[in-house]
Amino acid sequence: MPTQIVRTTPIEGQKPGTSGLRKQTAVFRRPHFLENYVQAIFDGIGGIEGKTLIVGGDGRFYNDQAIQIILRMAAANGATKCIVGQGGILSTPAASHLIRLRKADGGLILSASHNPGGPDADFGLKYNGRNGGPASERITDEIFQRTATLDFFKIAACDDIDLTEIGIQSVESMEVEIVDPVADYATLMRSIVNFDKIHNLFANGFTMCFDAMHAVTGPYAHAILEDMLGAAKGTVINGIPSEDFGKGHPDPNPIWAKQLMDKMYGTDAPDFGAASDGDGDRNMIVGRGAYITPSDSLALLTAKAHLAPAYRGGLAGVARSMPTSRAVDRVADSLGIACYETPTGWKFFGNLLDAGKVTLCGEESAGTGSDHVREKDGLWAVLLWLNILAETKMSVTDLMNDLWATHGRCYYSRLDYEAVESDKATQMINGLQAKLGDLVGQKIGTLDIETADEFSYLDPVDGSTSANQGLRISFVGGARVVFRLSGTGTQGATIRIYLEQLEINPNRLQQDVMSVLQPVRDAALILSDLVAITGRTAPDVIT
Ligand code: G1P
Ligand code: ZN
Repeated sequence: MPTQIVRTTPIEGQKPGTSGLRKQTAVFRRPHFLENYVQAIFDGIGGIEGKTLIVGGDGRFYNDQAIQIILRMAAANGATKCIVGQGGILSTPAASHLIRLRKADGGLILSASHNPGGPDADFGLKYNGRNGGPASERITDEIFQRTATLDFFKIAACDDIDLTEIGIQSVESMEVEIVDPVADYATLMRSIVNFDKIHNLFANGFTMCFDAMHAVTGPYAHAILEDMLGAAKGTVINGIPSEDFGKGHPDPNPIWAKQLMDKMYGTDAPDFGAASDGDGDRNMIVGRGAYITPSDSLALLTAKAHLAPAYRGGLAGVARSMPTSRAVDRVADSLGIACYETPTGWKFFGNLLDAGKVTLCGEESAGTGSDHVREKDGLWAVLLWLNILAETKMSVTDLMNDLWATHGRCYYSRLDYEAVESDKATQMINGLQAKLGDLVGQKIGTLDIETADEFSYLDPVDGSTSANQGLRISFVGGARVVFRLSGTGTQGATIRIYLEQLEINPNRLQQDVMSVLQPVRDAALILSDLVAITGRTAPDVIT
């Protein structure tokens, strides 16, 4: 069958963000939209002739059809080989691992992460490079330039590949290898945490609930937690991936993982609860009646990672995104290791991990990871927690109380205002940005402003600068508020406000989070004038 060169008109410039391109599924299904974007990726990375690519996604609606198009286009563009997860399935961390394990040139991951899936929901596609991590800004810029000028794409005219059969097939002269999506990932996990110890923990009656949220981690969690580690059958709930995630929102936070939260706060709650998102890179950790913020989870993992075989020798350093709470900074300080503060988005961790400057990293948005892959990794975080629980024989609550008693507690919450009119969101941010310089020393409500700036990041590895990464204001006494606009929302603008208050008094470590944060929340609203500018009186989501 011949390769077809299809004439096309450039799609309106499509700028991939930190997590590739996310759009409504209907947009991806417009004639030539996906094809143009895939060709722009291939061209933007300097062509794919002779290259090997990993391809897989989170199983959402359009995953398999999109993979067929990608495979035909990869063949027509001269790729030597594509390695595809069986059924088109690969979690994002498993894809990152496969790129590294198979020494591939890169990979295409199909996912809109925690956004809902289905014909009326969202779809996404991103390119990860040779190190297994999200493409650098230089590459995403190349891809963006290309989307706006492209006037043809190449595609092989041939039948669909059978994605269900493990083994080797071909599309024209390109080889397609269908692989078990779980096996290599499970082997990697076994090399990091102590499977025997965790197996013993479950054998001794430890109970757990893992909510796969009808998304990609179902098969991974069934295989690893239940089959290999001996957790009771039924430990994994919502474990069969569905095209629309059971009509849910596969975002592991207390709002969307309500079924899990109800169990963990109910009578007979299991010892440990966890959830992961659409593509398996995020995680939520819950103890019996105790939700653990991702920022606190990162701090705890940093403090105890040495209990797992892979980190026995200690950590080179840690990194957190700027809006993530400063809890981990305090742990790093006591361990005498560096703690880097990066802009939001996983790609900034890649350079630090590649350079060996950090071993663990994480974000407040439920992403935690280590140098084992170049993506955040939901199930890995859960397994590391299990390893720590098995070694310390402490409960989740006791571990956290212990951490706070030693390092203080960073009370923390994030407020999201979604689908705000873009010009109003920009007006609010610009207004605040313009007055930052005058804020230091002012009293807002009950709080005194200590510092106020716009975060700009100088990458210590490649020397590049990323400016305009969010406005941060800190107050005397350990409170902080951060404002930024989301880069991943698909409708209008999402304003994120991050609130934090450090408490070191041992008698004040068990207060109500929202009460503790009220003064800094009030200050945030006064400073930003959010209600008057946007007309919003309450956030849409509080996490
Ligand atoms: C959000 C999170 C960020 C994460 C990104 C991709 O981005 O806040 O931490 O890296 O999703 O999962 P945002 O929408 O805030 O730009
Ligand atoms: Zn995700």
